[in-house]
Amino acid sequence: MSQLFRLDNQVAVVTGACGKLGPVWTEALLGAGARVAALELPGAPPSAAFTALTRAAGGHLRRFDCDITDRASIESTARAVVEALGEPAVLVNNAGIDQPPDTGGNRSAIDHLPIEQFRRMVEVNLLGTFQVTQVFGGRMAARGQGSIVNIGSLYASVSPDQRFYDHLPGDLPFLKTPAYGASKAAVVNMTKYFATLWGSSGVRVNTLSPGGVLGGQDAEFKAKYGARVPLRRMARDEDLQGPLLFLASSAAAYVTGHELRVDGGFTAW
Ligand SMILES: NC(=O)c1ccc[n+]([C@@H]2O[C@H](COP(=O)([O-])OP(=O)(O)OC[C@H]3O[C@@H](n4cnc5c(N)ncnc54)[C@H](O)[C@@H]3O)[C@@H](O)[C@H]2O)c1
Repeated sequence: MSQLFRLDNQVAVVTGACGKLGPVWTEALLGAGARVAALELPGAPPSAAFTALTRAAGGHLRRFDCDITDRASIESTARAVVEALGEPAVLVNNAGIDQPPDTGGNRSAIDHLPIEQFRRMVEVNLLGTFQVTQVFGGRMAARGQGSIVNIGSLYASVSPDQRFYDHLPGDLPFLKTPAYGASKAAVVNMTKYFATLWGSSGVRVNTLSPGGVLGGQDAEFKAKYGARVPLRRMARDEDLQGPLLFLASSAAAYVTGHELRVDGGFTAW
């Protein structure tokens, strides 16, 4: 049965590969036997996890410059990926932006939330994902084979609970933006669009929506968040890897248009 989850001799593309979750997906794909094209903004510093993976994977992991908001950049990257590694069979649309880290200053009340912040989030999270899907997904549909996994979020389904942040000091209460969830909800809907459009072309398209993943969060946030989760904790990196391989591989051969929530039950409550 474990053969069902293998991706031997397949090429997988991961966007935004050098951030926090990029290496988590990349490690899982490499472990399943895939060669991975890691797409990232030119000059973006690789995380320690990405550097370690590059060392361990040898020629099976290659980084390519790509700005997912720039169609010409995506097209030239696609040509470079195909030439270096072969035609991709898996695409993980992972690149995305959230609110920058909170400093306690520079906050806005909802009626003065900068529209530019909203626009940029839609530009990267939704329109970027769309353009990468056009270019790489289009090639998959023409070949008649592929699996696309769009990375959503629990905030595609529910509004952020602002009480998670009410211990943070600052002039104004910290306000988690509505732009993030709105952009991710749109990605969930767009997933269904491409799943139905390309179902007859052999391309499956699904969303994987993680809950909050353990990182550098403060103790009070973790306690408040964990109490709100049926499984009583934030996600760990390794919680995400099995669900990704499931969706990417032939284990999910009859699954398309689905949103797989990997959130410890957060959205069940
Ligand atoms: N970390 C979490 O708790 C969490 C939870 C739910 C969903 N997500 C989603 O998972 C994905 C990855 O999140 P993360 O925590 O690794 O974020 P991150 O900020 O650590 O990494 C995102 C990466 O995307 C890259 N990127 C940004 N704009 C880009 C562009 N225009 N073109 C190409 N690359 C670009 C960044 O350089 C960065 O390396 C995002 O879509 C995020 O919304 C994360």
